[in-house]
Amino acid sequence: MSKEIVFTEPLYQAKGIKKYFPVTGGVLRRKIGEVKALDGVDLDIYRGETISIIGESGCGKTTLGRMLAVLQKPTGGELSFDFGDGLKNVVGLNRTEELAFRRRVQMIFQDPYTSFNPRQRVGAAIDEVLQVHGMKDPEERFSRIKESCEMVNMRVEYLQRYPHEFSGGQRQRLAIARCLAIRPELIIADEIVSALDVSIQAQIINLLRQIQRETGLSFVFITHDVAVARYVGHRIAVMYLGSVVEILPAGALPENAEHPYTIALLSAVPDMNLQGKKKEIVLQGEVPSPIDAPSGCAFSTRCPYVMDICKTTRPVLRLAYEADSSHQVACHLEKPPIGA
Ligand SMILES: Nc1ncnc2c1ncn2[C@@H]1O[C@H](COP(=O)(O)OP(=O)(O)O)[C@@H](O)[C@H]1O
Ligand SMILES: [Mg+2]
Repeated sequence: MSKEIVFTEPLYQAKGIKKYFPVTGGVLRRKIGEVKALDGVDLDIYRGETISIIGESGCGKTTLGRMLAVLQKPTGGELSFDFGDGLKNVVGLNRTEELAFRRRVQMIFQDPYTSFNPRQRVGAAIDEVLQVHGMKDPEERFSRIKESCEMVNMRVEYLQRYPHEFSGGQRQRLAIARCLAIRPELIIADEIVSALDVSIQAQIINLLRQIQRETGLSFVFITHDVAVARYVGHRIAVMYLGSVVEILPAGALPENAEHPYTIALLSAVPDMNLQGKKKEIVLQGEVPSPIDAPSGCAFSTRCPYVMDICKTTRPVLRLAYEADSSHQVACHLEKPPIGA
């Protein structure tokens, strides 16, 4: 059974994370603008929770995952991780500290084929990771590898094989095993089932849920699929154009959705019955370009409830209900649109 998640002391905290990519033009490749892939993301990740990140393609999910894994440095904002004695900044760590961070925070990508060396047996690939993280005893390493293979229902004999000998789903399970072998505290999974057949998707998703319950480790589960996000996550963070517009408990969806964009996303899912509790929102127009994002609320150009303040002032995440830090929303509306 999973333990109660305590929403008071985050394991990992992102504050005001920005990532701007330069846009260059002309023969001199001068900077002519910026893609604001992330424009001030706030996110707290707690021990033992799976937080799903949803949003349309291009809203910045992968960029956020890469920032959290510190595979790239943010242009602005702070990332702090609790190594055991309180939150500590993780950007610009020295080599020893960075290794300590990488042992705790791991990332898995959509296509694990690119993350396994095609000429290396998968067992050796996992073994290498353990060596990098300082496990000197080969027997100890082998028992760790065996343990992680069992967790993903993979036979130990398969470790002698090469990556191309596996199916997409098997490779993804091996990628998970490789992460688990170093016993991380947080795994960031970016669209890891999106390229798989539906039946295999379900298998991997159930496996992740089981691993999460048994180990109590935290997951950031990035997906564009609302139903999957809801099934896997304890909470859901909804992104729109480079920012998180709402973070809400998954269990009470769709009734608890407050942000008009969240409601619009749910309205587009056939079996997500809003039951007349919330007015359905059918989105008009296109997502604005992150090169030329609206000032004020990013959603203001498409929101049916837009007010003057939305066009000028960017709403910050606030508690949706008093004394409940599990649900936050960034919207100027006091109350969500109710009734059909
Ligand atoms: N290296 C890069 N250079 C320039 N723009 C980028 C780069 N990586 C991502 N972007 C842009 O940032 C935005 C967010 O991308 P991404 O994080 O991949 O979104 P998602 O994963 O939600 O589909 C997109 O507009 C994308 O084109
Ligand atoms: Mg992506």
